[in-house]
Amino acid sequence: MTPYSARLGEALGLTPPEIRVLLKGSFLHDAGKLGIPDSILLKPARLDPQEFSVMKTHVDKGTDIVKRSSWLSEGTEVIGYHHEKFAGGGYPRGLTGQEIPITARIFAGADVFDALTSQRPYKKPLTFEEAMGILGQDSGKYFDPAGFSNMGDRLLKLADRVAEERAFHRAYRTARFVRAALGRDSGVLGAAAFAFDEMKRARGEADAETPGDG
Ligand SMILES: [Fe+2]
Repeated sequence: MTPYSARLGEALGLTPPEIRVLLKGSFLHDAGKLGIPDSILLKPARLDPQEFSVMKTHVDKGTDIVKRSSWLSEGTEVIGYHHEKFAGGGYPRGLTGQEIPITARIFAGADVFDALTSQRPYKKPLTFEEAMGILGQDSGKYFDPAGFSNMGDRLLKLADRVAEERAFHRAYRTARFVRAALGRDSGVLGAAAFAFDEMKRARGEADAETPGDG
């Protein structure tokens, strides 16, 4: 969801340093899950209250991890507040509205959109319209409704771009595979030509895909 965060940040007029904070935080938001036992992290069912209270500690664990690094510590703004809710009732601090840093509020919107439109073992991805319907209902509850009016157009354009980029990356991986299979000296041009054909083929299929499932 990092590209979604970045585009929403731009749309909402964040400065370049704020966008840098947003990007670092988006990449690292769940870093603290490294410190959560697999029995909880990978549990295929709903967590019980005791397990959930352990899970909640991933927020402070995450800030502890990144604050040791001078160049990652900017991420603490998103990491430390990414489970707060605009209307209150989030964790770990139960802040509301403007008390939550704007970067964390933007991340929250992007994260929900990404989750709704992604394939998971237990659910199908929602369409763009279905996801935006849910975001519309919930704006104000979980994230900043001031950002919501800009969100639809930006996300729609971005969803198209993500589908295109994923098609490109698939072509790139194929090209690397072919080059490896043919040997190191087979020539970059041959691989590039193959990649180009593959990219055109993949783009034909890209419309049927949804962003975020890979
Ligand atoms: Fe989290």
